[in-house]
Amino acid sequence: MKVPLQKYWDVQKKYLAPFKKRVLLLALLLASGTSLLIFSPLVIESFINLATRGVPLQDVGFYWEGMQIPLVSINTVTRVLILLAIAYIILMVIQQVITLGSVYLSQSLSWSATNMLRFDLTNHCVSLDMTFHNEHKPGEMIERIDGDVNTLATFLSQFAVQLVTSLLVIIGSLAVLFTKHWIIGLSFTAFTLLAIVVMYVLRNFSVKAWEDQRQTSADMYGTIEESLSAIEDIRANDGIKNSMRKFYDASRKDFKAFRRALYRGQVFVMAIWGVIALINTLIFAPSIPLVKAGVLSLGTVFLIQVFAGILLRPIFVITRQMQDLQRAGASIDRINKLFDMETKIHDTGDQTLSGGPLAIEFNDLSFAYVEDDYVLNDISFKLEPGQTLGIVGHTGSGKTTISRLIFRLYDAKPTEGDIRLNDIKITDISLPDLRDKISYVTQNVELFQASVRENVTLFDNRIPDIRIESILLDIGLGNWLEKLPEGLDTIISSSEQGISAGEAQLLALARVFIKSPNLVVLDEASSRLDPATEHLLDQAIEKLLINRTGIIIAHRLATLEKVDDILIIDKGKIIEYGKREVLAKNTQSKFYHLLQTGEIEELLK
Ligand SMILES: Nc1ncnc2c1ncn2[C@@H]1O[C@H](COP(=O)(O)OP(=O)(O)O)[C@@H](O)[C@H]1O
Ligand SMILES: [Mg+2]
Repeated sequence: MKVPLQKYWDVQKKYLAPFKKRVLLLALLLASGTSLLIFSPLVIESFINLATRGVPLQDVGFYWEGMQIPLVSINTVTRVLILLAIAYIILMVIQQVITLGSVYLSQSLSWSATNMLRFDLTNHCVSLDMTFHNEHKPGEMIERIDGDVNTLATFLSQFAVQLVTSLLVIIGSLAVLFTKHWIIGLSFTAFTLLAIVVMYVLRNFSVKAWEDQRQTSADMYGTIEESLSAIEDIRANDGIKNSMRKFYDASRKDFKAFRRALYRGQVFVMAIWGVIALINTLIFAPSIPLVKAGVLSLGTVFLIQVFAGILLRPIFVITRQMQDLQRAGASIDRINKLFDMETKIHDTGDQTLSGGPLAIEFNDLSFAYVEDDYVLNDISFKLEPGQTLGIVGHTGSGKTTISRLIFRLYDAKPTEGDIRLNDIKITDISLPDLRDKISYVTQNVELFQASVRENVTLFDNRIPDIRIESILLDIGLGNWLEKLPEGLDTIISSSEQGISAGEAQLLALARVFIKSPNLVVLDEASSRLDPATEHLLDQAIEKLLINRTGIIIAHRLATLEKVDDILIIDKGKIIEYGKREVLAKNTQSKFYHLLQTGEIEELLK
């Protein structure tokens, strides 16, 4: 177990270390800002004390009808008063500049540090295996990576500095007040303690309410997202009324929570103003006789009043930092939990694959996503380099699972068979090398809201345009590319620059051409394409498989006509496997039957 405070320190150390200079500069700025804050009221005090001595402000230097009335003629007291005023103005300007600088610095610090944390978290999430991604929805990860990290932003960049400067302000102010009179110093120490207690008692008065509101707000957005993503089903089933009622309920809850939080927040602010008013009264009432008796000067009374205000600010800041610390603690815990998750896919292999088409082999492979619920049973097949295997089977029979296992998105247990490439177990091959030599085109091609170029290169900007263009031309997307308003720069978005399912498949194939792997695993789209696109796709696949080993999960007969071997799978078991030519001639085979009926769906009846 870590010491509770250790975790705060660990995060600060790790994410502020690269920005030491900026942290130091920020501390320096805040320290000088603090000194100015304490020093400038002293200037006013002297001003008032001097001014109330009753010396007339005659002979102030000015220009009049071209004549300068020289400053020399002004009496000394007035001159000092003017100097004090100018000094005060300069101090104020410097203080504003310092404030500006420290706001800029602390913002830049918090963004730099949190972006680093965001990057680390994203990187970590992306490297986790598919089991993790199936269990954690994207929304949850966004909440972790953005929501929780945001909560840490002020904590990371400001907590320590704010705490120290606030304490300095309190100590400095009290010290100044003690030099005025020990009674004043003592009573202010008492007031400060009182204010700290009041704020401490009230600190959670609105925090919980705001947290509740965050939840109701998240619920409301959840309802909206749910309704929108199921809009087709909702419309089709006449569910709009119900869905609107659900939304109405959620937004009413959010409204009530918001009103409550705002109300409580306001009460908190009012309580603070109450303390300020109380302190002011407590200062002024006894000051009057003291001034009259000549114990206190008017300037000192003013000074005391100003310090009452100055003192409250650091107390307020400390309270806020404490609230922040609480929230930061919860966020750090959640973030650490995420960091502690380890991928189940271990990159321990050190072998690399030679170039050229790969041989692939499954040996008695069984696999279960969930313990003991096997979706693949004793799968064995062997494919020679450069050959192509077509896999057919019902939905849910395990075809996609086979592709995922080859790509090591999941690992089968070591005791339950193995997969070999060029006779090397895939777990013995270094993961980057394995994924470099294999391409896996998924059934549902995901396109990014990005340019055509980026969609093909997957954001690798080292690939020259000419290469991308020639590949697109090669796979029959030349005409399509020509019609795009901005060529490769055209942004593919679902609304404006619509793209058909077939074109999306072709773009996905273009990605494979760029990568030029030695084994291609292709999960064909099950949606029907128009004949023209289908023809393009067939040609592109044919080109793709030249000098490469291929596994195609087929949804169309046309695809099966080109493969060397056929594997028919049902409920995780192979029910037919062999050379296409042989099976096509065997009237007893399922493949023969399939060719006769022409319908893949009929296949397993
Ligand atoms: N991530 C997963 N977690 C648990 N079960 C899964 C997962 N993916 C697929 N399955 C199950 O595995 C079986 C095979 O699925 P899949 O390989 O996708 O079949 P196919 O591609 O042939 O349609 C199905 O019963 C499916 O419900
Ligand atoms: Mg599938």
